[in-house]
Amino acid sequence: MSGRLAGKVALVTGAASGIGAACARLFAAEGARVVVTDVQDEKGRAVAAAIGGLYVTHDVAREEAWTAAVAAALAAYGRLDVLVNNAGIFIPQTIEDCDLAVWNKVLGVNLTGTMLGCKHAVRAMKANPGGPAGSIVNVSSITGYIGLASAAAYTASKGGVRLLTKSVAVHCARAYRTIRCNSLHPGTIDTPMNQAAFDASGDPEGMRALFDTMQPVGRMASAAEMAACALFLASDESSFVTGAELLADGGWLAAGGPL
Ligand SMILES: NC(=O)c1ccc[n+]([C@@H]2O[C@H](COP(=O)([O-])OP(=O)(O)OC[C@H]3O[C@@H](n4cnc5c(N)ncnc54)[C@H](O)[C@@H]3O)[C@@H](O)[C@H]2O)c1
Repeated sequence: MSGRLAGKVALVTGAASGIGAACARLFAAEGARVVVTDVQDEKGRAVAAAIGGLYVTHDVAREEAWTAAVAAALAAYGRLDVLVNNAGIFIPQTIEDCDLAVWNKVLGVNLTGTMLGCKHAVRAMKANPGGPAGSIVNVSSITGYIGLASAAAYTASKGGVRLLTKSVAVHCARAYRTIRCNSLHPGTIDTPMNQAAFDASGDPEGMRALFDTMQPVGRMASAAEMAACALFLASDESSFVTGAELLADGGWLAAGGPL
């Protein structure tokens, strides 16, 4: 098969929905064999079926689930070239309201899940037939740079993902040369995660309009636009890029604020 990921095997977490599903579709269209993982089994199976991929039930916060997911990828396809640590949850609470159980849940999925993914992917990538090779894409956020007052745990988790990525990247560069790790920092993206926040606000249309105007480009991004960024980092086109941050925020940070 031809394409920008021809011959590669990619595992995408949280791929039943939003950015992860868009990555799974684009990666398959670019020639990758894709392992779709999520905790939403019905939706995940549908994404995998549509692209001819493999679906694995996989709670990223649990190490035994990582062992099983990577083993399933290796059993099905014999190697692992790309991991997109995309699964994430958003639970808004300011630091004053921050409930310890919510903190642990958000950090568990967003940061610990990403750490476990890097650990298990690197172990698989260094043992790839033909020698160590691979690219890990960690989905952080614009909140890896700036504080979202309404979401202390989420902000902390995404800041953690940004710097964890650099530790993984430097380790892999020194130890294996050909295993890379980068972070992707979306601004606001039109996905079910944000739709849930709009619906909870009591004014979904007003919230949607507000989110559109928050970015200098005047609109949210689509999940497909984030998948295109992940594709660059996943593919050999970014072969000299490691430990880097790809900010895709419609100019938000360049403007110094939302408006
Ligand atoms: N939507 C945005 O504006 C935005 C902005 C910046 C960063 N992000 C990040 O992008 C990533 C994808 O978000 P999205 O907007 O596509 O959201 P989404 O809610 O559409 O998708 C997230 C997916 O993660 C899965 N998931 C949740 N907990 C999981 C777990 N424990 N194990 C495995 N899968 C789990 C969900 O089932 C869901 O399918 C997240 O990491 C999110 O924080 C999103």
